[in-house]
Amino acid sequence: MAVLLTGATGFLGCRILRALLADGAARPDEPVHVLGRGTPQELRARVEAAVSWPEPPPPGPDALRRLRCFTADLTRPGLGLTPDERAQITDDLRTVWHCGALLSLQADPVTLYRTNVLGTDGVLELVNDAPAAHVLHVSTAFVAGRRRSGHVREDDLDDAEGFHIPYEETKHTAERLIHAWCRRTGRTATILRPSLLITDRRVPDGLPEQPLDILARLVENALRTDALGTGGARILRGEAHGTAMTVRVPGEPAGALNLVQADYAVSAMMRVMEQRTAASTGRDSDTDTDTDTDTDTDSNSPCDSHVNSPVCTVHVTHPHNTPIALVRSALEARFPGLTLEITPAVPSPTPMEAGVIASTAHLSAYTTQNRTYDRTHLLRAVGDLPDPSPIDRAYLLRALTPPEAQPSE
Ligand SMILES: NC(=O)c1ccc[n+]([C@@H]2O[C@H](COP(=O)([O-])OP(=O)(O)OC[C@H]3O[C@@H](n4cnc5c(N)ncnc54)[C@H](OP(=O)(O)O)[C@@H]3O)[C@@H](O)[C@H]2O)c1
Repeated sequence: MAVLLTGATGFLGCRILRALLADGAARPDEPVHVLGRGTPQELRARVEAAVSWPEPPPPGPDALRRLRCFTADLTRPGLGLTPDERAQITDDLRTVWHCGALLSLQADPVTLYRTNVLGTDGVLELVNDAPAAHVLHVSTAFVAGRRRSGHVREDDLDDAEGFHIPYEETKHTAERLIHAWCRRTGRTATILRPSLLITDRRVPDGLPEQPLDILARLVENALRTDALGTGGARILRGEAHGTAMTVRVPGEPAGALNLVQADYAVSAMMRVMEQRTAASTGRDSDTDTDTDTDTDTDSNSPCDSHVNSPVCTVHVTHPHNTPIALVRSALEARFPGLTLEITPAVPSPTPMEAGVIASTAHLSAYTTQNRTYDRTHLLRAVGDLPDPSPIDRAYLLRALTPPEAQPSE
């Protein structure tokens, strides 16, 4: 039996791949088909580099021999695979992880649609030829779009309040495709919705970035372009202790976002995979007895499976939201001498504030959220996996600090 993974060169995908290849993984002999861009040799080199960080020990040569790399592009018809490659990939395929996506807050909507929606369609079309395979589709908790408050249930898939950015909308549409495919084919699938993934683990340069790196870089760039004074440069050189440079940033100071540790998210996803692949195997053999009930609680599945909607959606989220004020405080600790004032309006902005406003316009709406995420399916699936530890200022500071700037242990 084989596993298929898209997005293996990305921040989350390389962690999923490490878990699939880890010592003690449930099925240590399965081939892992990796679909991604570049020639098979280039893709293999990138994938091997992406799983290579030293702690805990990376996959060894035997584990890496399980990799089969195929050149594929989510934006191309049929993913750009030849009929022969499709036959190799779908032969005895058991599990499909569709993790590849364009995760960009500012990319143009057409490219986002082609990658995230048509790419998902391309993966599902491929999986039509692998009738025993269970699909795990990596989505995002941000499919809830502009919804600011309340408790988002895992079964909610509602676009009534619209979306902040096209990325969210394409991930929402991709979820709808999964539902439609399951209804059409009678297959089952699992949708995994992580919130914003973070890590404080040091990994070598050149490996995929986490979203917090982008935030730290925005601040760094603003300080670097502090054209009117030397304050920004002094802060960047770490020489501004005891002084304060206040920068007003548009946003809601009382907002809160769900951040979740990537290590926890991957462990939880592995547990969901085990449960769901077991449940779908059970369902295949039980089909004759299942069809006379409308709703069926399957003890092997984290979800109450519905004959008409055999999709299980799982929030892979932290039990507690992280206040925006804590992120602000960690950024101030990362850049001593800088005071960030998050405020709904910034009248008469300084040139530096005007630059910050321009470069964070797409982010400020996220500070207005305070919604929470239901974790019923998640908790059923992960069993005794402990909840992730609280995210405190020290954790965020480590996550925001690049390896070369961290104090040595
Ligand atoms: N990171 C988060 O905080 C977060 C939170 C919630 C949900 N998610 C979801 O998690 C998944 C993975 O995100 P990530 O953080 O790992 O993103 P990432 O680091 O940007 O990685 C994206 C992956 O998708 C691949 N990809 C992009 N366009 C492609 C194309 N046209 N053809 C083939 N492969 C393509 C990339 O390949 P290249 O290396 O060739 O570019 C890369 O392997 C996504 O579905 C995302 O929506 C992420």
